[in-house]
Amino acid sequence: MYCKTFTLLRHSGQEEEFLMRQCTEADLLDIMELQQKVYDEIADPELYAIVEEPEIHESLLEDYCYGTYHNGRMVAFTMMIANRISHRNYGTYIGYPEERLPKCVSLEITIVDSAYRGYGLQRLFVKIREEEAKRHGAEESFVTIAPGNEYSLKNFLKSGYEIVETRPLYEGAVRHILRKML
Ligand SMILES: CC(C)(COP(=O)(O)OP(=O)(O)OC[C@H]1O[C@@H](n2cnc3c(N)ncnc32)[C@H](O)[C@@H]1OP(=O)(O)O)[C@@H](O)C(=O)NCCC(=O)NCCS
Repeated sequence: MYCKTFTLLRHSGQEEEFLMRQCTEADLLDIMELQQKVYDEIADPELYAIVEEPEIHESLLEDYCYGTYHNGRMVAFTMMIANRISHRNYGTYIGYPEERLPKCVSLEITIVDSAYRGYGLQRLFVKIREEEAKRHGAEESFVTIAPGNEYSLKNFLKSGYEIVETRPLYEGAVRHILRKML
């Protein structure tokens, strides 16, 4: 099970120590609470689509979920849908045949408590998930981002992702679909 500490620095010079670890079913409530808090603070609800509890629960059992903790409190969360055959595999969004899905992972949910933004946690989460994905034989990584989500889009472009399609997804909300060859 992944568990590692990081000392991270903000532009302001503030330095903090964070623990990053893989989550289990026992963390479900903390994840739901953090997601709600982050969602409630988003000015434009079009920018973030809530992931419901059954999906997060399924991912805690079948996929890779990571929490970031500061002084024992969860301050950030992310997950990656494993390279498994599922309608949740984003390879399906661009019409990949089923045989190709075991080579594709999908980066879903990244939420950072507003008090802890600017430490580069999203990009660190990308790196950790890509390393895990490669260990499991994945060759392509996908993410979907609302076109107006400038911070998230910037982080994924910086991490080497490219937009392959832009179209309505999640109940009609438009999303960029980005891909990186691992
Ligand atoms: C997108 C998100 C995860 C990025 O968090 P992060 O990794 O901490 O962001 P970064 O470290 O890249 O921040 C870089 C700079 O942008 C600022 N920033 C990041 N997200 C911001 C936001 N939503 N609003 C205003 N400023 C933000 C940071 O404070 C930092 O500023 P600085 O350089 O002056 O210190 C975070 O904004 C978030 O949780 N947003 C809401 C949920 C969401 O949209 N998730 C992504 C879905 S694809």
